[in-house]
Amino acid sequence: MRLIYHGHAAFSLISGDFHLIIDPFLSGNPLAKIKAEDCHPSHILLTHGHSDHLGDALELAAANQALIIAPTELANWCEDKGAQSHAMYMGSMVFPFGRCTMVQAFHGSYIKDNGQTLYGGLACGYVLEIGGKVVYHAGDTGIFGDMANLSRRARIDCALLPIGGNYTMDPIDALAAAAMIGAALTIPMHYNTFPIIRQDPHAFVAELGKQGLAGRVLGPEESVEL
Ligand code: NI
Ligand code: MN
Repeated sequence: MRLIYHGHAAFSLISGDFHLIIDPFLSGNPLAKIKAEDCHPSHILLTHGHSDHLGDALELAAANQALIIAPTELANWCEDKGAQSHAMYMGSMVFPFGRCTMVQAFHGSYIKDNGQTLYGGLACGYVLEIGGKVVYHAGDTGIFGDMANLSRRARIDCALLPIGGNYTMDPIDALAAAAMIGAALTIPMHYNTFPIIRQDPHAFVAELGKQGLAGRVLGPEESVEL
């Protein structure tokens, strides 16, 4: 299974015929090096409705007949906009690509639609079992104690954790989160896209190393084989 970073909170997970893209903020993402038209997902997973996560979801869904998986209110809004969607909430569902478990995230969610602000439901994270690997995408969240239980169903091979601060965990909280999760590999996300979330991901990974945890900084379009 190949994991590709697109900058901010956008990642692709590719295994066999399946291409999952999470939070596809590509157009308007100052860190993204790939154009939405060059991206061909089979599934689009959204953690919440904020524009830096919803991103190009509707356009990608239309261009690729991709299924959008999202918290119910957001999934239903996508459906109203013409996308195929699968609405779910904190729970587990088996899709053709593997198991998708939606988990909590401490964050908000709204959708900006033609000058209106619509309620987006709850924000979430995902634990995804695909290609024999388990990946946790935390979404936008502060730290919470139940991160220690995320590996209850299956050991997490790779944790994608926000470190930008202000809206989410900063590197100090993300370090404690990584220790609770105990993933084989931790990758920082949600930093340096905007001045307010400026952080040093290499310092974060060095601190992980001091705690005996493996970390890796991925630049935009860099990938790792899990
Ligand atoms: Ni957000
Ligand atoms: Mn965000």
